[in-house]
Formats: sequence, structure tokens, C-alpha cells
Amino acid sequence: MKRVIAIDGPSGAGKSTISKLLAKKLGFQFLDTGALYRAIALHLRRQGTAPGSPDPEIAGKLEGVFIQFSDGRVMLNGEDVSEAIRTTEAGHYASVFSAKKAVRDFLFQIQRDAALHHDIVAEGRDMTTVVFPDAWRKFYLDASEEGRAKRRFLQLREKGTEISLGEALRDVKDRDTRDSRRDIAPLRRAEDAIYIDSTNLSLDEVIGVIVSHL
Ligand code: DC
Repeated sequence: MKRVIAIDGPSGAGKSTISKLLAKKLGFQFLDTGALYRAIALHLRRQGTAPGSPDPEIAGKLEGVFIQFSDGRVMLNGEDVSEAIRTTEAGHYASVFSAKKAVRDFLFQIQRDAALHHDIVAEGRDMTTVVFPDAWRKFYLDASEEGRAKRRFLQLREKGTEISLGEALRDVKDRDTRDSRRDIAPLRRAEDAIYIDSTNLSLDEVIGVIVSHL
């Protein structure tokens, strides 16, 4: 196992952007675990899987599925789904299906294996608690609900998605509730994770704080 910088936090806290920049700065690889959950949810939706389906049925639908990151693109069974997984609907279903044990079991080893040969910056909801409890460094990146909603609103608008600030706030609250109240691997702040509130910090400042702890 190589060095892992594990970063958890709620939706819209800036984890992806920060992790990507940090990985580049350090020469580490970036593991976007939200993209894995989004791609799996997309696959399951395409298979007509209902969120309430039992775990054995979901496990069966995941057999043989493979996800790769290639030049910053996300490939699902060889298809580039980078755009398809970024819609609000894809985010919603990623959150819904991520509560299923079959989905978390399927992705667990894939995530662990990412650190076998490369130093990585891994971000998600359970990097510090479940997937990499043995991580080299752990961070919990937070921001106010309003700040996170605004960030999500701007990101989606930039991609041409019609969304209001109110809808973005509802989406953030909805996902916070689901991601932190589920039974398996809920989002929580690990005791040994360094807490960073990014509400009033620039990207460079957040990265500066992280680097100061390495
Ligand atoms: O970070 P994101 O918005 O791309 O993640 C989409 C959803 O995937 C999120 O709402 C919950 C789930 N997820 C998870 O359960 N565990 C992770 N490590 C990463 C994401």
C-alpha cells in the first residue's frame, strides 16, 4: 500500500477540485470515488434496477462491470460516461444506490487497489473511516450549507444545467441527510481527521492548509 491522503466531506464542499489540484501538485494520483458511485448508479439505472432491489439482485447486475479512469475521463465498460454521470439526477441516484451493501462491497476492493502501486489523493464519504482507515493523512473538508449549494449551483450552471439556487440547496440538504444517515459507511468525521472549514477560504488557501499538515 502506497501513501494515501484521504479526504471526506459533504456534497459540494469542494473535495474534487481540491483533491485534483493537490494530487497534481504532489505528483499523486487522484481517486474520485464519487465518480465510481455515479457510474455504478448509471449502470444500474440503465439495467432498470429499482433502488429497493435486494442486494443479491444488485450484485448480479454488477458482475463483470468495469470502470476505468483514462486521461481524466470516466469509462464504464469502455464507454465514456464523464458527462452522463455529472447531472443532478445521476448525483441523486449515486446517493440512493450508494446506501446498498452490494454496491459498497463491489467498489471496496477497486478503491483499495488504487493505492497498491501509486500514492493517491482519495476523496469521498468513507475514505477516512472505512476504505482507508490506515491512510497516511486524513482530512474532513466542510463548508456551510449555503456555501456548498452556491458552489454546486455555479458548477451546474457552467455545464449548462438549468437549476435555481433553491434547488441546489435542496439537493445539498437531501444528499447530506441520505449520505450521513445510511446504515453502511455513513458520512462522518473520523476522530483522527483534520477538520477544515472551507466556507471562507480560497482554493489555494485550502490547499495551503492541507499541505501544511503533510
Ligand atoms: O462526491 P459525489 O457528489 O460525486 O458523490 C455522489 C454520491 O456517491 C454521494 O452523494 C454519495 C456517494 N458516495 C459514497 O457513498 N461514498 C463515497 N466514497 C463517494 C460517494
